[in-house]
Amino acid sequence: MGAWIPGLAGVVAARTAVSRVDGTGGALWFRGVPVQAVADRGFEAAAALVLDAPVEGLGPLRVQAFARQAGVPVPSGAMDGVRALVAGAQTGSAAELIAEVGVAVGRVAAGLAGRPALVPDPALSHAADVGRMAVGRPLTAAEAEGLDAYLCTVMDHGLNASTFTARVVASTGSDAVSAVTAALGALKGPLHGGAPGPVLDMLDAVGMLDRAEPWVRAELDAGRRIMGMGHRVYRVRDPRAAVLERAVGGLHTERLALARAVEAAAEAALAARHPDRALRANVEFYTAILLEAVGLDRRLFTPMFAAGRVVGWLAHVAEERATGRIIRPASEYVGPPCT
Ligand code: COA
Repeated sequence: MGAWIPGLAGVVAARTAVSRVDGTGGALWFRGVPVQAVADRGFEAAAALVLDAPVEGLGPLRVQAFARQAGVPVPSGAMDGVRALVAGAQTGSAAELIAEVGVAVGRVAAGLAGRPALVPDPALSHAADVGRMAVGRPLTAAEAEGLDAYLCTVMDHGLNASTFTARVVASTGSDAVSAVTAALGALKGPLHGGAPGPVLDMLDAVGMLDRAEPWVRAELDAGRRIMGMGHRVYRVRDPRAAVLERAVGGLHTERLALARAVEAAAEAALAARHPDRALRANVEFYTAILLEAVGLDRRLFTPMFAAGRVVGWLAHVAEERATGRIIRPASEYVGPPCT
């Protein structure tokens, strides 16, 4: 039996054709296509690429999901709500589940805002409609485009915790609804899907452009981490940050200038303190600015992440099923002596 590896770091637990992450070069591809080019295709085409199968009829499927979810009670936590709504879905096509998650985000948003849920508009693109249901008003073209780029960018990212969870469930021969429900549970954890909120808290605390540098210095002196900086895999700037920064450029937000100033100050200060370790902006940094500029409540950031990542989960579910082998690692016994 092999040795225990904490966090399974560096363990290759799957073979995949869905995405490739190059942490040293700072690049990400979905089935060989660079992430920026994937985002340029738009959600529907990007989902078809990631799933390696057509994704059709999302509009009518959102309407169908809305009708099905209508009677389902929604627990109060945002991710608890999405999980409860999706858990009751019928096992169907990937497109059905993508629609279910998007509509669930809209229903949870309505609950948090204390307003009736908006009925899906099947004529809109998936991003524009999910954004509309989540924000509670029609998005501008620039907002819809920005959200679309976000949803594409986060569709997949190697064997992250929620994707691994989905694969484990699929490997038992269980259904896609169960795999997605379990993955939503994994994504809910703050170590996985939770950094964009704190990035906004940080920008709130900095407040003004000329305070970026002293604020960053004081945080680091106090031994605290700068949110949205650093990454377990990337040793350069997260390539997704660039895609999102470009998408934010089309939106009206006063935050962008402040965000750039904080990023520059943090990058310089971290480089001085950790000269042999590149600590640069990660995906969460510009996710925060983008989702806020679209008008999304901070509590809905992780649910919106799920609306994009569900595509990757389903692609991995299909891959894992094709292996026909259950994921069943070993454990090392460290309990009382066995007599
Ligand atoms: N701010 C300040 N210092 C940081 C830092 C940050 N954002 N990220 C890493 N460091 C420092 C650590 O304190 C550590 O210093 P030390 O060697 O003096 O103890 C060193 O850099 C290495 O950090 P480590 O924890 O080994 O990096 P990691 O690869 O395990 O962690 C993250 C990666 C993402 C968890 C980490 O960079 C982080 O906490 N970032 C902030 C939270 C965040 O943005 N999360 C979203 C990730 S997508």
